[in-house]
Amino acid sequence: MARVLTGIQSTGVPHLGNILGAIIPAINRSKIKGNESFLFIADLHSLTQIKNSDQLKRNTLNTAAAWLSFGLDTKHTVFYRQSDIPEVAELAWYLSCFYPYQRLTLSHSFKDKSQNLKDINSGLFYYPVLMAADILLYDANIVPVGKDQLQHLEITRSIASRFNNHFGDTFVTPKAELEKNSSYVIGTDGNKMSKSKDNIINIFQNDNLLMKQVMRIKTESTAIDEPKNPKNCNVFKIFSMIASEKDINILKKRYYSGDVGFGEAKKILLDEIKDKFKTERDKFNFLVSNPELVEKKLESGSKKAKHFANKVLKRVRLKLGYDK
Ligand code: ADP
Ligand code: TRP
Repeated sequence: MARVLTGIQSTGVPHLGNILGAIIPAINRSKIKGNESFLFIADLHSLTQIKNSDQLKRNTLNTAAAWLSFGLDTKHTVFYRQSDIPEVAELAWYLSCFYPYQRLTLSHSFKDKSQNLKDINSGLFYYPVLMAADILLYDANIVPVGKDQLQHLEITRSIASRFNNHFGDTFVTPKAELEKNSSYVIGTDGNKMSKSKDNIINIFQNDNLLMKQVMRIKTESTAIDEPKNPKNCNVFKIFSMIASEKDINILKKRYYSGDVGFGEAKKILLDEIKDKFKTERDKFNFLVSNPELVEKKLESGSKKAKHFANKVLKRVRLKLGYDK
C-alpha cells in the first residue's frame, strides 16, 4: 500500500483552473482503493506571502470548504491543516542541518519568487526544506505534483538520502508523480487561468459576480450571424472543459453555422457553470457560513496526522540523540 501525500497552497478561493486541474483529479485519485491518502492545507507556507491573520484563516476556510464541497471524503483521506502539527517545523530544522546552503540557492522557485515579490523573506528561501519536512514527517511514498514542484521533490529526496546515509534508514524516500496536466484551463483573457493574473473564474461567488466574470471573457469581434471557429473562441474553450460531449457538439455546430453570438455563448457557459456546479456551490456556501463544521473536520484530520507525525519524529530524535 502506498501513502500518497500532497499539500495545497491556501492563497485564496480556488478558481475553476484549480478545480479542474487539481481538486477533481486529486479527489478521484483518493478514491483508488489500496492507497492511503494525506491532504493538507499548507498554511505555514502561506505565511511567506500573507501576513494578515484574518486573511490566513479565511483562506484556510475557503480552501477547505472548496475541497469538501467537491466531495473530499475525510473518512478515507487524512485532511488536515499544516499549522496544527507544529512538529513539522521541528523536523524542518533538523533537515536544514543536513542540506547544503549552496544547494538551496539553486532553487528555481526562490529565484522566480524573489524576482516577482516585494517581501523576499528568509521563509521563501527556506520553503523547500519545510516542504521536505511535510513529506518526510508522514513517511509518504508518492507525492503528486505539478512540474513547478519537481525540484522541491528532488530536494526532499536528497535530504532523505543524506540523512539515511548518515544515520541509517530513517526516512522513506518519496517519489514524485507528475500530474498530467496536458491541458490547462484558460482564464478570461485567454491565458492560463491564475490568481496572479486577474483572469480567474470563481465559481463560488454569487450569481451576479459570476456573471460579470464570465462576461469579461475576451472574444473576437465577429458579427452574431457570421460563422465562427469554436477552436479560436475562449468561451467555447472553457465550455468544452466542463460540458457534456453532446452539448459541446451542439454548440460547435451553432458556431460553424453562424447561429450563435458571443453574448449568447457566454450566457450558455454561465448556465452550464451554474448547472454543473450547483451542488458544490451550495455546499461551499453552507460550509463557509458554518465554519465550525469545517473546523471540526480539520481538527479530526489533524489528530490523525499528529499520531503519524509523532511516530516519525520520535524515530528522528532517537537518531539525533535528542531522545530522553
Ligand atoms: P495559481 O496559478 O492560481 O497560483 P496554483 O499555482 O496555486 O494556482 O495551483 C494550484 C493547483 O492548481 C496546481 O495543481 C496547478 O497545477 C492547478 N492549476 C492552477 N491553475 C490551473 C489552470 N489554469 N488549469 C489547470 N490547472 C491549474
Ligand atoms: N509547494 C506546494 C505548491 O506550491 C504546496 C506544498 C507544500 C506541497 N508542502 C507540500 C505539495 C508537500 C506537496 C507536498 O503547490
